[in-house]
Amino acid sequence: MLSKSKFTTGQERRTHPLLWCAAIICTILTIAVIIAGIVTFVGYLVIHPRVPYVSVIDAHLDQMQFDYAGILEIQVTIVIRAQNGNGKAHASFSRSGYTLSFNGEDVARLVAPPFEVSKNSSVNFNYVVQSSPIPLDPEQSEDVDMALKRDLITFDLKGSARVRWRVGRLGSTSFLCRLACQLRFHPLNGTYIPSRCTSKAK
Ligand SMILES: *[C@@H]1O[C@H](CO)[C@@H](O)[C@H](O)[C@H]1NC(C)=O
Ligand SMILES: *[C@@H]1O[C@H](CO)[C@@H](O)[C@H](O)[C@H]1NC(C)=O
Repeated sequence: MLSKSKFTTGQERRTHPLLWCAAIICTILTIAVIIAGIVTFVGYLVIHPRVPYVSVIDAHLDQMQFDYAGILEIQVTIVIRAQNGNGKAHASFSRSGYTLSFNGEDVARLVAPPFEVSKNSSVNFNYVVQSSPIPLDPEQSEDVDMALKRDLITFDLKGSARVRWRVGRLGSTSFLCRLACQLRFHPLNGTYIPSRCTSKAK
């Protein structure tokens, strides 16, 4: 009798690990399903619809005046393309703002109102900006003199645009397209020297 009761208890003890196993397998399956869902969602975001981006596709230094008092005035045209490679969703660009600077001195600010880029297309923005007269310190003036002699001037363009983008019925996602690049011109004829300037990663 004593041994039988012991046997029963033993049987119960042997059943418990099986139940634990079932519970663990269930948990693992649940986690796997959740992870598969997350991976699918992230994959949809990252790979399937190509991420919108902005890039400088052309520019021109329309005018550049530099006088002996060290006052610099420029007018520049910069064409920035907003590209939406996604064939399934519109992209809304907002808070587009870029700053053009020379040697750390802000020269001009480029802003655009919010705009939409439809599926699988792009929008070009022609920013024509006229700087206010910028007084340069002697060192910066020397740099401009040098640039004119070498017929090569470099500006920095920095800024970003916020992109909002619908993802099916799941809602929308938004992120920043950041630009940070150097724009080079021949100041004598205003020609832009093309270089890579895009917010696209890689
Ligand atoms: C997107 O546009 C390109 C050409 O601009 C075309 O070849 C491609 O098939 C289009 N893709 C979709 C999904 O519409
Ligand atoms: C502007 O000047 C540069 C340097 O002299 C030259 O390479 C370029 O072809 C010129 N561009 C035009 C449109 O004349």
